[in-house]
Amino acid sequence: MEFRIGLIRGDGIGPEIVTEAKKVLDAVSCAYGHTFHYTDLLLGGASIDACGVPLTDETVAEAKQCDAVLMGSIGGDAKTSPWYQLPPEKRPEAGLLRIRKELGLFANLRPAYLYEELKDACPLKEEIIADGFDLVIMRELTGGLYFGERKTVVEDGIRKAVDTLTYNEKEIRRIAVRAFDIARKRRKKVTSVDKANVLDSSRLWRAVVEEVAKDYTDVTLEHMLVDNCAMQLVRDPAQFDVILTENMFGDILSDEASMVTGSIGMLSSASLNESSFGLYEPSHGSAPDIAGKNIANPIATVLSAAMMLRYSLNLDQEADAVEQAVKRVLKKGYRTVDIMSEGCIQVSTIQMGDLLAKEIEA
Ligand code: IPM
Ligand code: MG
Repeated sequence: MEFRIGLIRGDGIGPEIVTEAKKVLDAVSCAYGHTFHYTDLLLGGASIDACGVPLTDETVAEAKQCDAVLMGSIGGDAKTSPWYQLPPEKRPEAGLLRIRKELGLFANLRPAYLYEELKDACPLKEEIIADGFDLVIMRELTGGLYFGERKTVVEDGIRKAVDTLTYNEKEIRRIAVRAFDIARKRRKKVTSVDKANVLDSSRLWRAVVEEVAKDYTDVTLEHMLVDNCAMQLVRDPAQFDVILTENMFGDILSDEASMVTGSIGMLSSASLNESSFGLYEPSHGSAPDIAGKNIANPIATVLSAAMMLRYSLNLDQEADAVEQAVKRVLKKGYRTVDIMSEGCIQVSTIQMGDLLAKEIEA
């Protein structure tokens, strides 16, 4: 089959890890007889350097022509990069927020699980992770605080900043439906996370999620306050299956969940809209401190490519092949430096990409 794939190489380690993910996709296209047409898309700092803005209308239009977009990472070092001398709406992150909005990518899936082979890297005590854990965060991605009205003003000589957190019931319902759908294919439990003891937006969230739950009597629903959830993630992560939450809580909790796995360089993510289109990116950032050193771990991006094959291109067998390739390479003892442990073989970014591609060809 033929597909059009947009590639956002981005900033920092982005270009290196996308190159390796493409290598793996090329191996998939060879082994399974598909044709992938790639379009390079500029976003973030790379777009600022080339076009003066973090996202252009042309890029949005080109992305819309693709079946899916695979992204590395965007952004630089806020202390040293000239991008952060620009006003907030012209910085790299503004481009990412805008492309999510423009493409309607409201459902952000962030899996966090413990790899048996990488258990040693997990910062939690052995007794807490004895049985492992496997959860997915369903984060609302185009509403809430990150997209509400904001302003900074001076009133009576005092500086004041305002951000607004708004959700309507439609936005809550569509993300809740996604969470219940995915829970149905997993362990059938949704934990909806909010701050209903304080926020009106959370009280509406809770009410709408309960309405949606009525159509999913086979799925267990529980509500949890966000502060408690932050604690439970380190106390007993195995209790979670699907965590459903709003934009900012999901931003924070997904960083925590990925850190708890001990292998943030391994975690993928998908941002989906109403159709099969999606933007796929690793859960980690652009790590400008290690950019260009050929040491970054490309596995999170490779696994994001696997999610892309599964969710946007409907190629389940090919997605399985990529995920199996990752498992086999880890089993053989190959590790990039971030997940290196005693007795393993340390490899570079490029070597890891080669090993993974070879597993697919085999
Ligand atoms: C993420 C990032 C972004 C977000 C930033 C870069 C705007 O932290 O994808 O989690 O907050 O959504
Ligand atoms: Mg984040």
